Amino acid sequence: MIKLAVLSDIHANHVALERCIRHALDQNVEEFLFLGDYVSDCPYPQKTMEIIYQMKKKHHCYFIRGNREDYMLNHRKNPWERWTYSSASGNLLYTYENLTNKDLDFYEGIDIQGIYRKEGYPVFRYCHGSIEASNELLITENERLQEVMSNLDVDLLISGHTHIQEKAVYGGKKLIHPGSIGLPWYYNGKTQYMILHGTENGWEEQFFQLDYDVDAVKEEFETSGIMEKAFHWAKMALHTLYTGDDYSTPCLKLAMEMCREAEGAVTWPDIPEKYWEAAYRKFVG
Ligand SMILES: [Fe+2]
Repeated sequence: MIKLAVLSDIHANHVALERCIRHALDQNVEEFLFLGDYVSDCPYPQKTMEIIYQMKKKHHCYFIRGNREDYMLNHRKNPWERWTYSSASGNLLYTYENLTNKDLDFYEGIDIQGIYRKEGYPVFRYCHGSIEASNELLITENERLQEVMSNLDVDLLISGHTHIQEKAVYGGKKLIHPGSIGLPWYYNGKTQYMILHGTENGWEEQFFQLDYDVDAVKEEFETSGIMEKAFHWAKMALHTLYTGDDYSTPCLKLAMEMCREAEGAVTWPDIPEKYWEAAYRKFVG
């Protein structure tokens, strides 16, 4: 019997990350599997990266990277890519400014997917989005999901990116989403991770949703300068932390739609803040 903690979508919420790691250690977890999206959205990404490096040193860990790390790596390769202090790209720019080459090298050194092999236990695959792309959402509405699952060469796939804690079975193969540590959806914003219990016969998931000190994260939003760089995006992240309701995607879509209608064209990240303001008011109030 082995216990494996699966931690995904931290999004720089180091307070929630510490809560989940402490909880996992109390459950005598032996290994840690990190599914990416370590940074962006919450302040002080360097605090999360420090925890990641400590975990790497002290525990048996597996790491893959998410789409947010891919954005950071692409930005290092293409510094002319225009990110501005705005609701659209300010959060990415703030995050990039707070990372070091050591962090970017760490992301570059890991893959977007992995395969777990250990003698005596069934093999499974894991990824951030899908095995092919770090930003693919493996949710029911994705028409490719059936195809992804029928092409799967093992009985279990674990993926992050959805921020929703759930499992589903497709043609006898299991897909599990462990939820999000740092920007969890639903459960009133409680931080989420899972423990996989492995035996020679298979893997059983145990989902956790835990209270943590959200006010401490809010204080960092207010003192870090992220609100002045990411505007409505940062406000939406805070709303998600307290409620578990995330409006970032519909808000972005609506702001772009309003901009296109009013100005004839829209190019991300050049979406005037007045459209973000209107979209934010519609979804969050
Ligand atoms: Fe993601």
